[in-house]
Amino acid sequence: MSNHLMNTYMRQPVTFAKGKGIWLWDDKGEKYLDALAGVAVNGLGHAHPKLVKAISEQAAKLIHVSNIYNIAEQAALADKLCEISGMDKVFFCNSGCEANEAAIKLARLYGHNKGIKTPEIIVMDKSFHGRTMATLSATGNRKVQAGFEPLVSGFIRVPFDDIEAVKQVASRNSNVVAILVEPVQGEGGINIPKDAGAYLETLREICDANGWLLMLDEVQTGIGRTGTWFAFQHTSIKPDVMTLAKGLGSGV
Ligand SMILES: Cc1ncc(COP(=O)(O)O)c(C=O)c1O
Repeated sequence: MSNHLMNTYMRQPVTFAKGKGIWLWDDKGEKYLDALAGVAVNGLGHAHPKLVKAISEQAAKLIHVSNIYNIAEQAALADKLCEISGMDKVFFCNSGCEANEAAIKLARLYGHNKGIKTPEIIVMDKSFHGRTMATLSATGNRKVQAGFEPLVSGFIRVPFDDIEAVKQVASRNSNVVAILVEPVQGEGGINIPKDAGAYLETLREICDANGWLLMLDEVQTGIGRTGTWFAFQHTSIKPDVMTLAKGLGSGV
């Protein structure tokens, strides 16, 4: 292992050399069942022939031109994502935390457009939204935040799966513009609301009644990981904003 890599992860003493489907082989030829899948990233498994073909063909054709120009594949993917989700518009970025940064910016802009100068977003205990400054501030885990203070302001934290707590915030705070929530909390411990459908549906009602955006972080639950394309599709509701990453690129 290089001495030049920053020690930011608790790395396991193994180096993987290749993979196929659910299997991995290390540099000594030992075979492993990959039950982690890159922390919910490799949804198609390793070296899926269709993914390998798509990446190879595109890399040989054109890798980058910037968003200043039309990109046919980007437009096709936006259409596909809207078709399977029922959403209207897509914004592409590079990771889950960037997607959540964009969601936070959207919510703040939405607030400013309504004349709210210090917009606030309701977030949950034990949530995980990423490691950039705004997303670690939104995250409900002190370990992720410790050492990086001062945090970004504008977040109100409530317990996960606690509708009363959200209603209390609604009754006393007029600067709230959105709720940001994972349908199932991933990094926080695979926390499923007692009645997951009713929880999202009630949050939707509260958002509608107060003019707030319902923003679902589906970075970990999206792209088929709960049995439907997106976790909210187990319910009758639709979010205003949904963030995706991980399985969407299957590692790319
Ligand atoms: C629910 C959720 N949101 C956001 C993120 C951050 O995604 P990324 O690591 O792609 O920045 C993660 C990563 O684990 C996540 O589980």
